[in-house]
Amino acid sequence: MSHQLTDFDLIIFGATGDLSMRKLLPSLYQAHAAGLLHPDGRILAVSRSRLDTAEFLAKVESDSKQHIKQHFSETAWQSFIGRITYLPVDVTRPEHFVALADAVKTRSASSVVIYLSTAPRFFAEACRHLAAVGLNADNVRIVLEKPLGSDLASSRQINDDVARYFKEGQVYRIDHYLGKEGLQNLLPLRFGNVFLERIWSREYIRSVQITIAEQLGVEERGEFYDTAGALRDMVQNHIMQMLCFVAMEPPQSEDADAVRDEKLKVVAALKPMTAGDVDKYVVRAQYVAHGGQKGYLQERHVPADSRTETYVAIRAEVDTPRWQGVPFYLRTGKRLAQRRAEIVVNFKERQQTWFGPQHANRLIIRLQPDETVSMRWFVKQAGNGLHTVPAEMVLDLGQAMSGRRADAYEILLREVIDGRLNLFNRRDELEKAWEWLMPVLDNWAVSKVAPYTYAAGSWGPQAARDLLARDGNLWLEEQAA
Ligand code: BG6
Repeated sequence: MSHQLTDFDLIIFGATGDLSMRKLLPSLYQAHAAGLLHPDGRILAVSRSRLDTAEFLAKVESDSKQHIKQHFSETAWQSFIGRITYLPVDVTRPEHFVALADAVKTRSASSVVIYLSTAPRFFAEACRHLAAVGLNADNVRIVLEKPLGSDLASSRQINDDVARYFKEGQVYRIDHYLGKEGLQNLLPLRFGNVFLERIWSREYIRSVQITIAEQLGVEERGEFYDTAGALRDMVQNHIMQMLCFVAMEPPQSEDADAVRDEKLKVVAALKPMTAGDVDKYVVRAQYVAHGGQKGYLQERHVPADSRTETYVAIRAEVDTPRWQGVPFYLRTGKRLAQRRAEIVVNFKERQQTWFGPQHANRLIIRLQPDETVSMRWFVKQAGNGLHTVPAEMVLDLGQAMSGRRADAYEILLREVIDGRLNLFNRRDELEKAWEWLMPVLDNWAVSKVAPYTYAAGSWGPQAARDLLARDGNLWLEEQAA
């Protein structure tokens, strides 16, 4: 599908930082090389460092270029960096914003995107100075990177600060999981295939598992991670988005608010947890050294007595007519056995029939490492009457989705430039997610019980298996092949 390209000025705050070098600039290069950026579009890279454009580009050459994994051509690269200008901007200095506004006003791009790739503590001041120089006009869109707060109160504070200068329709809250095609595909998969739509409910579904498992540990991010933990880093955002796409009702239209209204309803319908529920339905754990891999407490910048969770599993319920009583098992962790992001829908068992032993269909929607949808069917076992054996039918989404594939950040950046909010989170939804998780954070803050432990490279603590066993269920890796 071709559409008109939008002329833009993209201002990246924190341009010398990790996200900008590793993700934003390489993603923009990809869009550029594919001819998907307006030819006049400019990138204004800003940060506190006192550099000129040539010095910044030298840094891009050494720190960013290496992250371009495909479609690299020196010619495309040279024309790409021609779009970049660097400006030193100290967020605490109003006069720097005047210079920034002057740079933007040298022409009038139809879309001005301001990407705040900085710590949230700078957001309020940055927004105030941007507004003071008119960089909050209607054609300005502001992009906020997570973490947007560390609890309900701090998230509200950030949203209030931004809302003082920008209308909600100008605010693009990034969750890079929403840029993953495998996740977006859930809606066409569910609502575009008549047989799935009919059985997508408590009547046929016994349980749902949502997993984001990582093999990596906290790497060099120990200092940040220790203040966050798996619940804030992954559950409040990425896991919640996966849950919304699995559980939401069909939106009335493709319109951003129609989609976001339905997501909000899912989060609002999550059964609230009491302090007692937290002990019963939430498992937190930390990895310990195993098989030559360090434990969390031995990672750099992690205090030796840290209680920060690197793993969390939750038994949740979505209290809507479609889902009442169906457990949603959510889990994420670092240093697990495999890297996998997936949704497992376990259908109810067929009653005993003359086909043989009881069995249940299962649908697995995998976003990582491969993008697949697999359905477990039952077929006749050769030479054994009508007795059945399970058989897996695998749809390779990578092959099936025709068209050029792009990385999540590239997709999201192009959406912002075009001014489409569908793949960005609205404030009410994010705050509802914090509201639901607050009892967990409050309980952990005072709990005398230490996190469980799990061996690095394993599938997590026994307590997470027990969580499912109480309902007579098993995590995917323990289910019969
Ligand atoms: C980030 C988290 O938001 O998502 C990281 O801060 C995590 O801790 C990452 O590793 C996972 O993203 P992906 O796309 O690799 O699954």
